Amino acid sequence: MDAILRAEGVDLFYGTHQAVSGADFALRSGEVAAVMGSSGSGKSSLLYCLAGVLAPTRGTVSFDGTAFSTLDDDALSTLRRERFGFVFQYGELLPELTAEENAALPLRLAGRRKAPAHAAAGEVLGRLGMAELSQRRTSQLSGGQSQRVAVARALVHRPAVIFADEPTGALDSVNAAAVLDEFLRLARDQGTAVVIVTHDATVASHADSQYTMADGVLTRRVAA
Ligand SMILES: Nc1ncnc2c1ncn2[C@@H]1O[C@H](COP(=O)(O)OP(=O)(O)O)[C@@H](O)[C@H]1O
Ligand SMILES: [Mg+2]
Repeated sequence: MDAILRAEGVDLFYGTHQAVSGADFALRSGEVAAVMGSSGSGKSSLLYCLAGVLAPTRGTVSFDGTAFSTLDDDALSTLRRERFGFVFQYGELLPELTAEENAALPLRLAGRRKAPAHAAAGEVLGRLGMAELSQRRTSQLSGGQSQRVAVARALVHRPAVIFADEPTGALDSVNAAAVLDEFLRLARDQGTAVVIVTHDATVASHADSQYTMADGVLTRRVAA
């Protein structure tokens, strides 16, 4: 299998506490993978390693055949900014900017002009049911609305891989379905690879592959 993202033997320690133990993971373009598991089992820690945000204590993670450990800080941040999309916490939005300005940020950082960047951001926000709120500052949005802005920002530059940590946690079922549809559509139409950490069994049931995390150990669930 030709994986776009691959992790081999990943351990992550915080001091003496081991959060991830020997994780192996592979993701193809266009594949949606769901990671489930109880609170504290190491899901977010694994996602940070897969996304090149935290360096594993042992083991390797590579994107398109290149190990993160061979890249310097600048190259790794450029890779993350240009090829990855993140939905980590809606608290990371810039509160003084509007929903559309927040969602357009990855395109603006990549040097895209304001008008096309905002048009693309507005379009994604519209698909997530946020058209009417696109000009509102994100400090004046609810948790669920902010979460959809964070999802829009993760998608707007059409990244190769999206890393989403509980992207539907603050959403009702209708809006959770809109977010899931958007991930599935990108995977199908653009070949985007998606890793979703989720508690939502409906979200997980639509994924191509399912994993469980328990006490830092990642296991692939085999379909019955
Ligand atoms: N920065 C940190 N420093 C020390 N321990 C941490 C840190 N982040 C997480 N942990 C611990 O690592 C374990 C896994 O955490 P986490 O990856 O956040 O789990 P999950 O996302 O599944 O809830 C937990 O025991 C947590 O308390
Ligand atoms: Mg977590």
